[in-house]
Amino acid sequence: MAKPLPRAWANVEEIEELAVPRLPAAIAGYYTGYSGSGVTIKDTRDSFARWRLLPRCLRDVSRVDTSCSLLGRKLEMPILVAPMAMQCMADPVGESGVARATKELGGGMILSTMSTISLEEVAQAAGPDGFLMFQLYVLSKREVTEAMVRRAERAGYKAIVVTVDAPRLGKRDEDERLQFRCPPHLRLANLAELQKDSAAARAGQESSGSGFAAFFTALIDPSLTWECITWLRGITSLPIFVKGILSPDDARQAVKAGVAGIVVSTHGGRQLDGTPAPLDVLPFIARAVAGAVPILIDGGIRRGSDVLKCLALGATAVLVGRPILWGLTLGGEEGAKAVLSTLRTELEHDMALLGVPSLAQLNEDYIIPPSGGVLALPAARL
Ligand code: FNR
Ligand code: LAC
Repeated sequence: MAKPLPRAWANVEEIEELAVPRLPAAIAGYYTGYSGSGVTIKDTRDSFARWRLLPRCLRDVSRVDTSCSLLGRKLEMPILVAPMAMQCMADPVGESGVARATKELGGGMILSTMSTISLEEVAQAAGPDGFLMFQLYVLSKREVTEAMVRRAERAGYKAIVVTVDAPRLGKRDEDERLQFRCPPHLRLANLAELQKDSAAARAGQESSGSGFAAFFTALIDPSLTWECITWLRGITSLPIFVKGILSPDDARQAVKAGVAGIVVSTHGGRQLDGTPAPLDVLPFIARAVAGAVPILIDGGIRRGSDVLKCLALGATAVLVGRPILWGLTLGGEEGAKAVLSTLRTELEHDMALLGVPSLAQLNEDYIIPPSGGVLALPAARL
């Protein structure tokens, strides 16, 4: 019998450089893409090396439990897949393959408005045991937005995650240079009509730079205010999360507006360049929110120990973005599963070494802030 081939990668940090050469340049450019000079994408990752874990010894770690609870539901690990547009560009199984992978590993997934498989089909792939949330872009056409929310509710999504850091798409030079657009054989399945025939579709076609950015910006409502949370709460009974919060003031305002959760995020460094790293602002946001709602966080999470740092600073769970696309590229559904299982295994292992057999025990006693150069928000903002 043939021996199984050794896996070419041992951890999630290594897979990007294996996956990227397998993709057409414009798709690789979009997936790896960042805005501006990349200050934020770099800092988002670097922040994890600044904070240090402080292990405790001689705590019985013969049994280690990676489970957590979110929206009243037990998840086997505090790791969800971040919403990412157009996953069929990585592999034809796309978002459905990722949904099945997350279900098998006992995590969850946030499906993007811009998915290449319809939200109904992805829900079917996840099945009744899956844990799916729907990421919403509020479009200028409110009636289309409302219809999407209703579809998500009907299909069994557990929450709406409104992305609030993208009144326009960030300026990503690589997408401009390579004139990135959704490949013609794929469709934005939740927005099929608008993609075919609309002012936004024409803006995309006519653009001499990133057709996708032009399409996106023409589609999105840039006039949104906190009123949109009130509006959403009026049209759905699903819990509402806001994604893209970095300021403690905004976190406080979100709680006041009645959200059920907050995602601290720099959008993977793809929106405003020069913002702080999510991990650095997390303790300030946790203080502002004071346990009122769960906090999720994303950006640059590549190791089990990264997950522990987020949870020690007050997050309930984390989202993982690009590594899932690299897993899909290298091995379809199995590749996505391998990425999630690698993270879960590392998390379990690092919990034992940290002396924390259950995630509920994690708190700020287990983490040390950087002594110099740590971001200090002015006291008035706390
Ligand atoms: C994204 N992200 C994103 N966010 C969102 O709210 N809606 C979306 O449709 C997308 N689309 C998208 C596409 C691609 C290719 C990437 C890489 C990212 C942002 C995403 O949810 C998340 O915030 C970051 O990707 C997290 O950072 P890492 O894990 O990729 O470093
Ligand atoms: C992106 C969008 C679609 O980051 O959120 O490309």
